[in-house]
This record gives sequence, structure tokens and C-alpha cells, in this order.
Amino acid sequence: MVFEFPSWDALNRNDNEENRVFNTDETTDKLYQDVAQPLVVSAVNGYNGTIFAYGQTSSGKTFTMMGNQKSLGVIPLAIQDIFKIIDDSPNREFLLRVSYMEIYNETVTDLLCDSRKKKPLEIREDINNLVDLAGSERASQTGAAGLRLKEGCNINRSLFVIGQVIKKLSDGHAGGFINYRDSKLTRILQNSLGGNAKTVIICTITPAAIEETLSTLQFASTAKHMKNDPHVNEVLDDEALMKRYRNEIVDLKKRLEEVSTFWYTVDSTHLHIG
Ligand SMILES: Nc1ncnc2c1ncn2[C@@H]1O[C@H](COP(=O)(O)OP(=O)(O)OP(=O)(O)O)[C@@H](O)[C@H]1O
Ligand SMILES: [Mg+2]
Repeated sequence: MVFEFPSWDALNRNDNEENRVFNTDETTDKLYQDVAQPLVVSAVNGYNGTIFAYGQTSSGKTFTMMGNQKSLGVIPLAIQDIFKIIDDSPNREFLLRVSYMEIYNETVTDLLCDSRKKKPLEIREDINNLVDLAGSERASQTGAAGLRLKEGCNINRSLFVIGQVIKKLSDGHAGGFINYRDSKLTRILQNSLGGNAKTVIICTITPAAIEETLSTLQFASTAKHMKNDPHVNEVLDDEALMKRYRNEIVDLKKRLEEVSTFWYTVDSTHLHIG
């Protein structure tokens, strides 16, 4: 079988200037500068942002997202930039929260938590998502049976559903029912897929398995048609901030009053706590 791929230039010249193909000579640093850094900057300016890596096993998802000492990945580069932006903006206040988790067998685990205290996480909404999809495309090729197959099905439930969701969104079904709730990953990424977020999908391929490469490219070309609707979340101007602080002061005063009433009651009955 012969597959003919368009040249890198032709792919890059594509219909949509937001598409970009990186060949083997280009570094993760270059990829970061071209497609990821703009998202990090806009996240600091109030947009939700998601960057996720999708592709067959050993194609370089972890290499791209985490990297190594010699070649930093998208995650450390993004963190460096976020701290630089914070340092360079002494007049702004930032609240930075980081979570790092794994979805395995449809169970979400906190990877920053002490392993003895690990317990499955409940899903909450969050703003910035940097995702490395372990083993995307893998299950169909493993030929696994029994327990491993069941495990494989569950691991791939998230990947299967993300494929479905992206397909529906790119078919123009945006007004219809989208099954975000069918997997943990799509619930977490709901805003990033067809919603209020700027999303970059990095698809990694390797010539090791041509069928998986084709299926990743199909995923990529479908995902290209997905339309998101990103808008700035809340930019607080000085007046809005003052209003928030005034409300907070009223609330704190009320709570202070409640506490002193309690102490008065305790004191008047000669009960002391301490
Ligand atoms: N662009 C690259 N340049 C040099 N080495 C790379 C590159 N991409 C991947 N590699 C190397 O290839 C191997 C497999 O890559 P990686 O572990 O990132 O794959 P993966 O897509 O995360 O696989 P899995 O689905 O199994 O997690 C690693 O040893 C990695 O260092
Ligand atoms: Mg990996």
C-alpha cells in the first residue's frame, strides 16, 4: 500500500492559517512559541485556554507536553512564561492554581497529592487545561483480551467519547445534543470543545504504525472544523473591584458581629472556651 502525503509546505499553506505542521527538525521550543505561547498570554488576559496532545503510542505526546532536561516541554515552558508575566506585572494581583491529574479507567486521580492520601477526584470547573492523552489510539492495536481488554475499553472510553464529541461539533451539530457527560475527559474539557475557550490540539504521529497515523490525521482534520466561542471571562476595572471590596467588607463586618454576639452569650453564662 502506498500513502501519499502532501508536502509540509502544502499542509502549512492549508485553508486555515491557524494550522501548522512541525517536521522532525523543529523543536518543542519552536512549537511552543508558535502555537502555545499565544494561548498562555491570552489566558492571563482572561480567556480560558486548553492545549492537548493526541496521538498514537510513542509518537511524542509526553515528549511534547513534559519534555526533558535538554528540551523542555509545553507545560514547563508555559509555567515559566506565566511566572514571568506575573513578575512583569507588579500592579496586578494574580491567583494561580495548578492541578495535575490522571484519568485512568475513568477514575480521575490527583497527581500532586501524597500517594497515601490519593483518592478519586470529583470533577469541578477549571480554567487552564494542559493535557497529555496517554495512549490515545492505542486500544485498537493492542489486540488485548479479558481484563486487559476491559481496562483498555475504559481507558479508551474517554478517547472514544472525545472523538465522538469532536465529530458532532465539526458536523455542525453544535445546537443539538453533545454527549460531554459520557466520559470524564469530555466533562473536564467541555468548555474547551465547542465552548468558551481557546483550544490548541497537538496531534503527534510516528511512522511506526501507518494506520494509527492515518486515524490521528483524520481526528486532526475533523477537529479543525470545530468552532469554539472564546470570550474574556471577567475583567475587573477599578470600580468593579471597589464594589467587590465594599461587599466583602459588609460581609466580613456581619460575620464579625455574629462572632462577638456569640462571645457575649458565652461570657454572660460564665462559659469560657480556650
Ligand atoms: N520530537 C522528538 N524528538 C526526539 N525524541 C522524541 C520526540 N518525540 C518523541 N521522542 C522520544 O520518543 C519516545 C516516545 O515518546 P513519548 O513517550 O513522548 O510518546 P507518547 O506519545 O507519550 O506515548 P504513550 O502514548 O505511550 O504515552 C520517547 O523516548 C521520546 O523521548
Ligand atoms: Mg506518554
